[in-house]
Amino acid sequence: MAKTEKELRAQIAELVKEYYDIKFAPKPFEPGKSMVRYAGRVFDEKELQSLVDASLDFWLTSGRYSEAFESAFCAFTGAEYAFLVNSGSSANLVALASLTSPLLGHRRLKRGDEVIAVAAGFPTTVNPIIQYGMVPVFVDVEIGTYNIDVRQLEKAISSKTKAIFLAHTLGNPYDLDAIMKLVEKYNLWLIEDCCDALGSTYKGRFVGSFGHIATCSFYPAHHITMGEGGCVFTSDETLARAARSIRDWGRDCYCAPGESNTCGKRFSATYGTLPKGYDHKYVYSHIGYNLKVTDMQAAIGVEQLKKLPKFIEARKANFKAWTEGFKKFGDAFILPRPTEGSDPSWFAFPVTVAENTGFTRTELTDYLNNHGVETRNLFAGNLLRQPAYIGIEHRVAPGGLKRTDHIMNDTFFLGTYPGLTREQIEYTLGIIEEFLKSKGVA
Ligand SMILES: Cc1ncc(COP(=O)(O)O)c(C=O)c1O
Repeated sequence: MAKTEKELRAQIAELVKEYYDIKFAPKPFEPGKSMVRYAGRVFDEKELQSLVDASLDFWLTSGRYSEAFESAFCAFTGAEYAFLVNSGSSANLVALASLTSPLLGHRRLKRGDEVIAVAAGFPTTVNPIIQYGMVPVFVDVEIGTYNIDVRQLEKAISSKTKAIFLAHTLGNPYDLDAIMKLVEKYNLWLIEDCCDALGSTYKGRFVGSFGHIATCSFYPAHHITMGEGGCVFTSDETLARAARSIRDWGRDCYCAPGESNTCGKRFSATYGTLPKGYDHKYVYSHIGYNLKVTDMQAAIGVEQLKKLPKFIEARKANFKAWTEGFKKFGDAFILPRPTEGSDPSWFAFPVTVAENTGFTRTELTDYLNNHGVETRNLFAGNLLRQPAYIGIEHRVAPGGLKRTDHIMNDTFFLGTYPGLTREQIEYTLGIIEEFLKSKGVA
């Protein structure tokens, strides 16, 4: 008798598990031969089965898995609305674009408005500000927390300043008490880039729930992955409407793919100066894009999200292991510190080479990478010194960017991702010790 679709799916799922066990069987760590990675996807057969299940639907665009992910993400973070997009960078674009929505009336952001930012970070937190014709105002950061120096922030605000757009650097929440005070005092918008901080808390609350709108990335280096992917989330109904519309071509209609006439007035309402009854599916209330994910991506994310609490614990434990291990190196390095009141779900373990140690950051990272240990710089270092940013319209806050430059020159990070083992951490610490000895430091 011919098998049913359900039986075939079950059989395929079993085969996928069998395949996973062979293809992705864990390999023993060989010191010096295997790489100690700074990040990587951590998954089991469940992600692979979910991906194949979605592909068998052949729905291709956003569908049941995207919906399942968005509601599970809301349940986890406490946000009212979450919209999947194809990357964290797209999420940042949608978040800023949402604040330009006509739905916001006189509070909408416009060209020439100033937005508080930092230059020690990832470019696509700042790029939407530039792309929308606004002016980034760069404030210096702190060594150790790697977040904005809130003591400098108020001095940076002018009558043109309308928003703050900052990432919680490498998972470490910024001082949200200080920032929220200024947000209220000056009636500013706050966008929280949580791309590196999923699961971090400040005073017991998840980051992303303080500002008006927040973003996440699901690129493989991040806390959970769907390959390419990201998410915009908010509890503000108006911003949610704007974000969805901007993600979905700018259209006014909010029907999911495959749905029609959810609003019940598809052919009866009037919009703009269009003729009455113009098909709502083709009414555009925003200047938008198409930034949706496919259901295959979301299907991976659904399984990853179930693992998130364990991933967060592993990141915290790895951070602790690095902190303990680095103690023996004395004053050679400035170690990271969580912002007071926060409990970071660390993206990485950032380290700054102290002054006058007799070696440079680059000498050390070169040595580590040559010995099979991956490192990364704190992204762009000082964004303003990057070729693409020379000549952009901007303002530097009073006080300058001295510590941003210090980070560009002397900071790097090691991984904290859940795939990192104690053996790999011990191996890395041994290599650092060897390097320091060669420089006459340890
Ligand atoms: C702070 C921050 N924001 C945004 C992004 C962009 O995310 P994506 O790579 O998914 O576009 C990244 C990427 O790593 C990031 O670290």
